[in-house]
Amino acid sequence: MNQVKIFDTTLRDGEQSPGCSMNLAEKIDVARQLEILGVDIIEAGFAVSSKGDFESVKTIAQTVKNCAVASLSRALEKDIDASYEALKGAIAPRIHLFLATSPIHMKYKLRMTEAEVLERTAKMVAYAKKHCSDIEFSAEDATRSEREFLARVVEAAISNGATTVNIPDTVGYTTPMEMRELIAYLRETVPNVERAVLSLHCHDDLGMAVANSVAGVKAGAGQIECTVNGIGERAGNASLEEVVMALRTRQDFYDATTRIDTTQIYRTSKLLYNIIGQSIPNNKSIVGKNAFAHESGIHQHGVLAEKSTYEIMTPESIGIPTNTMVLGKHSGRHAFESRLLELGYQLGKEDIDKFFTKFKEICDKKKEITDSDLEAIVTNREYVENLYTLETFAVNSGNGVSASCVVRLKKQGELLEEVALGDGPIDAAYKAVDKITNAPATTLEKYAIHSTSDGKDSLGEVIVKLRYGEQIITGRGLSTDIIESSILAYLNAVNKLVSFK
Ligand code: KIV
Ligand code: ZN
Repeated sequence: MNQVKIFDTTLRDGEQSPGCSMNLAEKIDVARQLEILGVDIIEAGFAVSSKGDFESVKTIAQTVKNCAVASLSRALEKDIDASYEALKGAIAPRIHLFLATSPIHMKYKLRMTEAEVLERTAKMVAYAKKHCSDIEFSAEDATRSEREFLARVVEAAISNGATTVNIPDTVGYTTPMEMRELIAYLRETVPNVERAVLSLHCHDDLGMAVANSVAGVKAGAGQIECTVNGIGERAGNASLEEVVMALRTRQDFYDATTRIDTTQIYRTSKLLYNIIGQSIPNNKSIVGKNAFAHESGIHQHGVLAEKSTYEIMTPESIGIPTNTMVLGKHSGRHAFESRLLELGYQLGKEDIDKFFTKFKEICDKKKEITDSDLEAIVTNREYVENLYTLETFAVNSGNGVSASCVVRLKKQGELLEEVALGDGPIDAAYKAVDKITNAPATTLEKYAIHSTSDGKDSLGEVIVKLRYGEQIITGRGLSTDIIESSILAYLNAVNKLVSFK
């Protein structure tokens, strides 16, 4: 059986896409969860690209113990040096370097000839190998490259020490059949191919990323690069949960397996959603809200008689809790903690104390706390040292009057209060917060609200995205009062903004 490595690039290819940026604390949480999920390699960033990326690669390299950590580099000495420097503390460091091999990229982007690309590949792989034994080389835009030339580049990379050679479908152009043939061709043609693992890295521009990845596995590729929830450049990368579940559910066909603990998939997907606030479509495969819902009468009848009539995998297999239990104000700390454990949340005492207090506050306003409410409570982390906290607010709004809001915030023990008018109560509240914090000007790129469960007393979860120059900062707020969750979300983003300003 082909043991396929899962190389997760959520923190690099995923994070670099619009609206998906994360701060260091958020990246560390994602990295820890990826480790629990069982990925083989975490690509933690592109060390040379910024001070922030360097720091996150370095910290993740020092934090993660059960999988390799990679940093991306162009085929340049200074990039490789930065990756090496950032990865030094890792138990299993991997330097990942890339150079384009397609005629289009070589002519217009690199302005290099085939001979120069071949030479640079050999030289830079050999240079990286002096630092680190685990070297991955990516032939960027491989699927639009001349096959014979690509084969020569792959051979050169391997003979100079690459242990993994990645064949990216950089622009999401290829088809499953082509990908299968390309991998088969390389395995037949490249004389030293057995000395390295062939890898796939597919983008989803034509909705083919997962299909192309698993097709490559069918031809013997040993690594798939993917991201949680499929986030990534443009239309995204192959989604981790989809490739893993495709290989698992159709093991009879692919004859391949991964090390992933699939029962951690749902939590991982939720964690990322909670951090970046990028919603998952209801009909998204595996982790969408409706992925296991059977609506039509015929389907429901079939599933009730025998699940396998319409279910090819179980919700339990990806860790979706099914025996829903409702907690309420009479539930004690023990019930709270054990339900969280059943849902897969192993929290430390400090976190349990903090979330139990929040749970009790919510119980005063909401009769029943469902599993999804609980999940919203424990995933509502601030990921920042709060400079400002909300004390009180009061709004006045209606049709026919302009909205106003009085907000009182606490800043290091000091109470600060402001009032503002606005186009509606939320606008007024945000203006009042701005007056108090005097934070740098941002634009509100996104405001989204949804309820965590059904019923009139549901918790309202608000996600805001603020643009500050090139950066997008995500804030989350949770409350039974939607104005309060709106202010909390905004304040969360403002606290993040002032923390790195
Ligand atoms: O899409 C791509 O080709 C990449 C490489 C850097 C691996 O992200
Ligand atoms: Zn990519």
